[in-house]
Amino acid sequence: GLFNGRSKMIALFVPDIINPFFPELARGVEDFTNQQGYTFLLCNTDNNPAKEEAYMHALKQKSVDGMIVVSSTISEEHVKESNIPIIALDRILNANLSSITVKNRKGARTAVQHLKSLGCHRIAHICGPENASNTLDRLGGFLDEVKEEPWFLSSYVQAGGYNYSMAVQVTKELLVNHPEIDGIFAANDLMGAGVLRAAQELGFHVPEDLAVVAFDGIRLSETTSPTLTTMVQPIYEIGRRAAEILIHHINNPHDAIQAEEFKVELVQRESTQVKR
Ligand code: RIB
Repeated sequence: GLFNGRSKMIALFVPDIINPFFPELARGVEDFTNQQGYTFLLCNTDNNPAKEEAYMHALKQKSVDGMIVVSSTISEEHVKESNIPIIALDRILNANLSSITVKNRKGARTAVQHLKSLGCHRIAHICGPENASNTLDRLGGFLDEVKEEPWFLSSYVQAGGYNYSMAVQVTKELLVNHPEIDGIFAANDLMGAGVLRAAQELGFHVPEDLAVVAFDGIRLSETTSPTLTTMVQPIYEIGRRAAEILIHHINNPHDAIQAEEFKVELVQRESTQVKR
């Protein structure tokens, strides 16, 4: 209220409001904060540090009580300047914040092990944006599984940027240059959908010629043709948990920061339903 300097408002930063992962995540944050009597503000940042800073500045003027950020770029300095509790969600920041993420490296390993168990032995990874912590963790998990394999070529890693059209484009280039590839691990579901599209355009049959596994478990993964095998994240729950921790920090500003990692789960669908 007026006398304690609190606005009873919290904000969530997301990099890409078009990606269905983020509305589901936002819903988890909003449900919890709303139940606690907070007004919820959503800011779309496009992964753009200038936009993030402008929003942080505006929110400070409005005396927002706390923030949850999905970001790769917010610096320790800006966190200190803001002088309010901030939680890193989905991506780790080098800024000494409480964080809620999933087991990205382990999940990526499970995805690639799944492709190997189908008999794939020329596996490629289409990876996310280079500065996101979860891109590096998923890439790390992929490399853990393939780097000792005799068939592994580093050119099998290609950047796609958590983005559908980029994934279509880079997958096409990859498959034209390496038609021997028989399995692809896409860093998220949108990119997995892009891989399916590229394969279809080039006449590769999924899963017979090419098995595909992705990451996230957004509803889209159940509606593509073929449906997508994916590492399902508890998207709504991690949003809700981040909100819970944020409100805890708002009420207990001196409590120690904490990092939580949620499990992901392989859900097999048509894109890997292959008999070899
Ligand atoms: O689809 C959005 C992706 O970016 C997800 O994989 C999520 O973990 C985020 O970082």
